[in-house]
Amino acid sequence: MLKRNYKRLLSQHTSLRIGGPAFCWLEPGNFDEVLEVISLANLDNRSLTVVGNGTNLLVHDKGFDGLIMNLGREFDSIEQETGEIVSVGAAAPLAQVVNRCAEFGLRGCEFLSGIPGSFGGSVFMNAGVRDVGDAGVYREIKDIIVDVDVVDLKDKTRKNMKPDEINFGYRSCGLDGKCILGARIRLEKDTTRAVNSRIDSFMKARQWIQELSFPSAGSVFKNPDASTPAGRLIDECGLKGAQAGGAEISRVHANFIVNTGNAMAKDVLELIRLAKGSVKDKFGIELELELKII
Ligand code: EPU
Repeated sequence: MLKRNYKRLLSQHTSLRIGGPAFCWLEPGNFDEVLEVISLANLDNRSLTVVGNGTNLLVHDKGFDGLIMNLGREFDSIEQETGEIVSVGAAAPLAQVVNRCAEFGLRGCEFLSGIPGSFGGSVFMNAGVRDVGDAGVYREIKDIIVDVDVVDLKDKTRKNMKPDEINFGYRSCGLDGKCILGARIRLEKDTTRAVNSRIDSFMKARQWIQELSFPSAGSVFKNPDASTPAGRLIDECGLKGAQAGGAEISRVHANFIVNTGNAMAKDVLELIRLAKGSVKDKFGIELELELKII
């Protein structure tokens, strides 16, 4: 039976620990239930949003007056198909994907280590990081994708899409209006030991660079370009430690906004305006949000 919860507080489902209630929170456990959720939204003429682990999401204090779909049970499998191809459900936590692939003796997705969130969310965001071994190389999930299984959130058509049919960009995939159900990735054979050692290097790099002591949603803004990181621009405006209510521009990494205890969405929005305005005034650069707001 389709699991549904009315007035579920979304602060329980966002890494920022912020957000009012959703009209209805739904957890389809299989594809038929996904179709049921889409029908419910169409019937009620309510907006429908897919949320994974909520690690890149700011929800307004008044909540979301629509349906939230959070894929459950049947969508969290991680299976080695043939040799170097692994099939991953959208609800699988990224950390588990990385560790399972290491157990399979497959390398190529260690760069996803330490990125919180679900596999589906990371495909949707085309998650990417600079390589720790070879700092000049930027690795994105699109580079290991074989195909992506999606369903359209209006007409319910299910489609298997190859990377050349998907408009992957920096922190985007152009799949708005669709729900990612899973994807297959292509990796390379290696030893579990060697893969684990690369996983350790990525984890250490993240701990050193990024804010991990307070709830956050990762990078708030996209980098305007590779040589102009948003964090440096905000830092050079002297905004580290700036506060609004319970929200603070991280003292560790200026492109992170943290919840120091009782932050509201309005506090985060105030800091977003402050950072955007200051960077525009000082550098003439218009920062673009990476954070999704509903
Ligand atoms: N910097 C500062 N001050 C700061 C923060 C950064 O001067 O407060 C400088 C650093 O010294 C460094 C440069 O800015 O020279 C870049 O910083 P960092 O290495 O932390 O990387 P980033 O460009 O800020 C990107 C991704 C991260 C990813 C890292 C590591 C974006 C928006 N963010 O951050 O992704 O983990 O590279 O590869 O592209 C995320 O998307 O949520 C995320 C955390």
